Amino acid sequence: MNVLLLLGLVAVALADVTRFYGEKVFRLKPVLDEHVILIKELASSIEVDFWRPESVELVTIDINVDIHVPAAHTDMVFTMLQQSGMEHEVMIEDLQATIDAQMDNKDISPRSHSYTKYNTLDDVEAWISSISSSNPDLVSKQVIGNSYEGRPMTLLKIGKKSSSSKPSIFLDCGIHAREWISPAFCQWFVKEALSTYGSDTQMTSLLNQMDVFVLPVFNIDGYDYTHKRDRMWRKTRSRSSGSSCYGADPNRNWNAGWCTTGASSNPCSDTFCGSKPESEIEVKNVADFIRKNKSIIKAYLTIHSYSQLLLFPYSYTFQLAEHHSELMSVAEGASEALRSLHGTRYTSGPGAATIYPAAGGSDDWAYDLGVKYSFTFELRDTGRYGFLLPVSQITPTCEETMLAVKYITSYVQKNLY
Ligand code: ARG
Ligand code: ZN
Repeated sequence: MNVLLLLGLVAVALADVTRFYGEKVFRLKPVLDEHVILIKELASSIEVDFWRPESVELVTIDINVDIHVPAAHTDMVFTMLQQSGMEHEVMIEDLQATIDAQMDNKDISPRSHSYTKYNTLDDVEAWISSISSSNPDLVSKQVIGNSYEGRPMTLLKIGKKSSSSKPSIFLDCGIHAREWISPAFCQWFVKEALSTYGSDTQMTSLLNQMDVFVLPVFNIDGYDYTHKRDRMWRKTRSRSSGSSCYGADPNRNWNAGWCTTGASSNPCSDTFCGSKPESEIEVKNVADFIRKNKSIIKAYLTIHSYSQLLLFPYSYTFQLAEHHSELMSVAEGASEALRSLHGTRYTSGPGAATIYPAAGGSDDWAYDLGVKYSFTFELRDTGRYGFLLPVSQITPTCEETMLAVKYITSYVQKNLY
């Protein structure tokens, strides 16, 4: 064997990569107060990774609760479920096997960037450079700041070059590290925009009249960490004083009802809101950019997974947004466009009432700043694979999501003046 290859294998073996053999994902269906109490007790006695909702604080009666349980505790969880009579399903039998299967086209998967795989951060960064240098007429890039670990956050601007500033759409992906389908969508969007400009009338008109700012990976430190260390990481990678836990939830860290509901002030929680609004440098960098450009930013779109939802403000309150009925009709039109391709069903509505109240989100913040068309997508699926959506679903997911995004952008374009 080649010595370098051998050294590489040894290095990978020695690196501290989290494995998930025998770990399970359960779906619990609490219908009694006792069931909710039981879930909360469970979360305080053993290490439970909440997939949906994203933390124990968000668990309520009559919602499905997807949790990832360490192998050592699965028997105990089974016993507890049996005794309580709570309805449940095992969604994922062996998390590591599902992670391995997510690379379901391993043998044919190219080693470099591809739109039909989950690219590493290095591959995404190389792609950002090459896509912008090979499309100088339509793409420009700018660094909006560095991440906590010092990586540059590169924003792409897609649109026909113009001497004056154009009305714009802001699109970000990868706020949460483990939601890998999200950055895959931003890359797909850029590819589609460039390859259909000049042939697709809708795309041509969009890019002639407007610019689309695309941030392909918002939480770059976290994304890199999910590839190298822990596939299930969600938050940023910052250190907070007085705790040994890392990171804050970059979708609880915005100055919109910050930390008042559906967020945690415990630095070890997966929904930790941070030490103050915009404590996370990645959030501050994006917020600064949007603030600086708020007069031209007409829509804010942010891509998450999973659950198949199209959400809009508010999430920090049950109060309806001023433009509620218009946002609802845009969301429903977009969901219908999405469904027309592969039959995938989305639910539309304001965040608080549709899933749960959760403050400090980017959508609410952008809306209150004055960006009226503010939407959060939760892409496929509804829990069969959750965050581990197989590679074979990247193409259909991105194709259908394109239709919804184009529906929204053309609506925004029509209502510009
Ligand atoms: N699942 C997403 C999250 O918890 C939903 C975001 C909806 N918007 C919001 N502002 N909470 O981050
Ligand atoms: Zn998310």
